[in-house]
Amino acid sequence: MRAKSQYQCQDCGATQPKWAGQCPECGAWNALVEVAVESRPARSNPRFSGYSGDSAEICDLRSVAAIEEERLATGIGELDRVLGGGIVPGSVVLIGGDPGIGKSTLLLQMLAAVADRLGTLYVTGEESPRQIALRARRLDVDTRSIRLLTETRIERVLDLARREQPRVMVVDSIQTMYTEVITSAPGSVSQVRETAAQLVRFAKQSGTSIYLVGHVTKEGALAGPRVLEHMVDTVLYFEGDSGGRFRVIRAVKNRYGAVNELGVFAMIDKGLREVSNPSAIFLTRHERQSPGSVVTVTREGTRPLLVEVQALVDETRLANPRRVTIGLDGNRLAMLLAIAHRHAGVVTYDQDVFVNVVGGVRVSETGADLAVLLAVLSSLRGKPLSRDLIAFGEVGLAGEIRPVPGGPERLREAGKHGYRHAIVPKTNVPRESIEGMQVIGVLTLDQALAQA
Ligand code: TYD
Ligand code: MG
Repeated sequence: MRAKSQYQCQDCGATQPKWAGQCPECGAWNALVEVAVESRPARSNPRFSGYSGDSAEICDLRSVAAIEEERLATGIGELDRVLGGGIVPGSVVLIGGDPGIGKSTLLLQMLAAVADRLGTLYVTGEESPRQIALRARRLDVDTRSIRLLTETRIERVLDLARREQPRVMVVDSIQTMYTEVITSAPGSVSQVRETAAQLVRFAKQSGTSIYLVGHVTKEGALAGPRVLEHMVDTVLYFEGDSGGRFRVIRAVKNRYGAVNELGVFAMIDKGLREVSNPSAIFLTRHERQSPGSVVTVTREGTRPLLVEVQALVDETRLANPRRVTIGLDGNRLAMLLAIAHRHAGVVTYDQDVFVNVVGGVRVSETGADLAVLLAVLSSLRGKPLSRDLIAFGEVGLAGEIRPVPGGPERLREAGKHGYRHAIVPKTNVPRESIEGMQVIGVLTLDQALAQA
């Protein structure tokens, strides 16, 4: 007998036998999504912590043994770093990124690195075995023990996986998988959610670690429902432009490690190669310093990273001047410009403002605020800043410069790369001076602009 599907409102949760444009219960538009009817609740294997489905009993938290998750290091240091130490048995990891950025390459390299120790399975719905064999040859990895499966029906995939019992399994990609229970096309919200749910259940029952490849939409979000990110244990994103050489993997969610940790790779002809000391790879050394360029030290994850912020300020022809950011939060730029106007008299309402972080990295911390404003001002006035200057600090709504974590560490890293002047928040000025570096502490935006 064929399992049934029904339609569930994503807003209120009410279910309907038929699809409708508007939910009859809560009135939300376009909220009905096809879901599978669960015939019986999923049973889980009690061996895996937290999923003892049958024996629900209340217990004291202190009586639960807090055992550290076992980790299997892949041997690819930068990948282990973003994963929080290595592969965790029974965990589900989602890897998102633009097409051609290297998701399949990375996962094939990972399987090759662990295949002599652990059983592996590479499930592909996108590429033929020939294409994968070609890639493996290019990568020059040992593929003898990698098992391959070309299949997109999830029930069949799971049947075979149960028989094969791999310890690490790659599903490339979740958008190609489908279940017959649901009639909509592979890649649709309901298919992605249902197949992912089945894979998650399998991972928790069997202890197999599953790596899901997820496509991203034009807007940069993972295609498919947002719930996918909630269902999995770890979400990794590839950053960096696929034309460039460097690839950054960021953990945006991790139940087994720190978020915002970065792993840095270079794409070479033999696949992805680790960059274990990436602090200055995103810098470009100019012969002559041009206006609008400022170097800042961010701390993404646990490492300081030197990045160049570029701004271009140009007279606008529009009633609503443009505010465009690449690698930074756009709302944050609008806010910073307002602060600059209000507290330092910098007028940009008749100017288009473009800000770019060089190298395709994303800066997600507020420590880059000061560098952004200095770059904007430098471009506005057409005056380059000193070549050996770095700046960091958060800018508050009152025009104050607020401290950031890890000040001395950032300054030392900048010193190592030959920077001699720094404009930083007053409280971030280290007690002992840093050799060869003049550190200027500032309390307000006014002071910072005067110093620059
Ligand atoms: P791929 O892993 O197929 O990307 P994704 O799965 O994210 O779509 O990577 C493909 C790109 O990487 C492609 O543009 C070619 C490049 N590449 C190399 O430069 N060197 C290599 O050794 C390999 C395998 C790919
Ligand atoms: Mg691919």
